[in-house]
Amino acid sequence: MNVVWRLRGGALDFECEPLEATAVSATIQRARDASDFTRRMAEEVRVGLQARPLSKLPSKYLYDDRGSALFDEITRLPEYYQTRTELAILETIADGVVEAVRPRELCELGSGVGRKVRLILDAMKGRGLLERCVLLDISEGFLVESAHQLDGDYPDLAVRGIAGDFLEDLPALGPGGGRLALFLAGTMGNLHPDRVPPFLRALARQLEPGDGFLLGLDLVKDEARLHAAYNDSAGVTAEFNRNVLRVVNTHLRADFEPEAFEHVAFYDRDNAWIEMRLRATRDMRVSVPGAELRLDLRRGDEIRTELSCKYTQPSLEARLAGTGLQIEGWHTDPEELFVSALLRRTGEAIPPEEPR
Ligand code: SAH
Ligand code: AVI
Repeated sequence: MNVVWRLRGGALDFECEPLEATAVSATIQRARDASDFTRRMAEEVRVGLQARPLSKLPSKYLYDDRGSALFDEITRLPEYYQTRTELAILETIADGVVEAVRPRELCELGSGVGRKVRLILDAMKGRGLLERCVLLDISEGFLVESAHQLDGDYPDLAVRGIAGDFLEDLPALGPGGGRLALFLAGTMGNLHPDRVPPFLRALARQLEPGDGFLLGLDLVKDEARLHAAYNDSAGVTAEFNRNVLRVVNTHLRADFEPEAFEHVAFYDRDNAWIEMRLRATRDMRVSVPGAELRLDLRRGDEIRTELSCKYTQPSLEARLAGTGLQIEGWHTDPEELFVSALLRRTGEAIPPEEPR
């Protein structure tokens, strides 16, 4: 197929590459081509690894096929309460949310295995609202698989998968109207708080007044519980953490030895976030040719690989100011571990972002 979709999203013209033609009718698109993806990654990794006092790798690079499978394994760990808690909340509220928003399009950012989206799709189906579903994820293999599965299981649904970055590629969603956006699992918590208002404004530009946004967030809670969730006894989170080095090895021809790093995860109470790091267990030299970088690491040196911010209603409200989104529903479990917040796009105009 030679078609290139040109979608008009806000101020930008956005080109999406069709990724493959399939026997079933799910449409799969790449928001950017593979060389652009690698170029961007090289730049982010070069800047991140050179950052001082703490070097960093973007958490989105935890996810390739292996990273997504490891995350899926995490969701079933006894210590990781988030997924089962959110599922229970969604089961309770799905009908009410769909009744309130009456969407014709469901759109999940960071869709992963695409399991939770089915609860909302079923509620839409029950009301004769099932029309379109868009999944957007950086992890291409899982995206393609889950789009195809949805397509097979919901024959009347038009399914579109976008392989892209929700921090850069939201215009690929196209204009809003009749849209319910989902951002589940607490994935917004993986954004540094400074990045949240620009992200929310970018999302609001893809929504029309009255469109809905169902946002799953992990809540501030007992620190021992948080600590256990990110330091599971089976070591799955540690393996997930080290996966970022494998992804950098694959795409940037680096020679990190993942086993030479230990998993570190701790709660920072002042910032209300869990921080994951990788700590070098010996002195080593690493080369990252794809990012034109050589690193000398000393034993004990650390690389930050993920933040997982924990929210309260006031902390979310503070980040919503001026984004054109407001809270309409706040649905928690009895222990108040996790929240599904239903947000609504207001009529507030959100001007285009200043070019960087
Ligand atoms: N929504 C699913 C998966 C959550 S895991 C669930 O509720 O279980 C977070 C997902 O976000 C992963 O699938 C990961 O690949 C994706 N992701 C992380 N950072 C991303 C980014 N910057 N852009 C697009 N997808 C991203
Ligand atoms: C996807 N995200 C919300 C998970 C979290 O809890 O922050 C990723 C994760 N990191 C370690 N364990 C799970």
